[in-house]
Amino acid sequence: MEFPFDVDLLLGERITTVDQHLQPSGRRGAGFSTTHSFGCSYERNCLSDYECVQVLIESAWFQAQNLPTPITSASRMQTNRHVLYILKDSEAKTAGKGAIIGFLKVGYKNSSLLLFFQDRHGAHNEVEPLCVLDFYIHESLQRHGYGKELFHYMLQRERVQPYQLAVDRPSEKLLCFLRKHYSLRDTIPQVSPFISNLFVLLFFLIPT
Ligand code: ACO
Repeated sequence: MEFPFDVDLLLGERITTVDQHLQPSGRRGAGFSTTHSFGCSYERNCLSDYECVQVLIESAWFQAQNLPTPITSASRMQTNRHVLYILKDSEAKTAGKGAIIGFLKVGYKNSSLLLFFQDRHGAHNEVEPLCVLDFYIHESLQRHGYGKELFHYMLQRERVQPYQLAVDRPSEKLLCFLRKHYSLRDTIPQVSPFISNLFVLLFFLIPT
C-alpha cells in the first residue's frame, strides 16, 4: 500500500513504537509538533509526524486485517494506554517510500479498573494485565519469523514475560504462534462484564 508520505523516514527504526501521544520513537525532538518536509505532500500540504501517524494508523493497512478489534483509531490510541509496535521493511522501497511488514498493539483494556481474573484453580486475583490487542504480519510475509521478531521486541521493551500477558480473543494462528515460540498452551478463558459494558473474553496462557 502506498502512503502519501515516506514511511521509511517517518518510522525511524526497524521497529518503531508509537505511544498514545502518536509520537513515533526515534524522532523525538525532531520537530514532532511542527510541520516539516520530508516529501510528505498530502493534498499539497506537508504533514507533521503526528498527522502522518494519524493517517498511517487509520489507513486500510491497519484496519482491514480481520482482527478482533480492527479499529486502530488515533483517538482510541490516545484515550487508552495503547502502544503500537510497527515493523518496517527497510530494504523494500515501495515507490521509494518504504513498506510495512506488520504491527503489534498492546495496552490495558481499561486503565481505571483493576480486573478480577480467575486462575486455573478458579481463584480470583486482582490484576491489571498488559493485553495483546492486535497483531498482524502481512499475508505474504507470515511464517518468516517477523512475528517473533516483533513480539520479542515488545516483551523486552514492556519488560514482561509472555505468560504475564492477557490476549484478547486470540486467533488460531496466534495460539499456534504462542505455543511454538513460548510454549504457552493452556488458556484460561476469562469473562468480564465490566469492560465496555460488554462481555469480553481474555485469555491467560499458561506455559507447560
Ligand atoms: N497457521 C498456523 N499457525 C501459524 C500460521 C498459520 N497460517 N501462521 C503463523 N503461525 C504460527 C505457527 O506456530 C508458525 O510456526 P510454523 O510455521 O513452524 O508452524 C509460527 O506462527 C511462525 O512464527 P512467525 O513467522 O514468527 O510468525 P508470523 O510472522 O507468521 O506472525 C501472526 C504470527 C502475527 C499470528 C501472523 O501469522 C498473522 O498476522 N496472522 C493473521 C492475523 C492474526 O491471526 N493475528 C492475531 C489476531 S488475535 C490478536 O491480535 C489478539
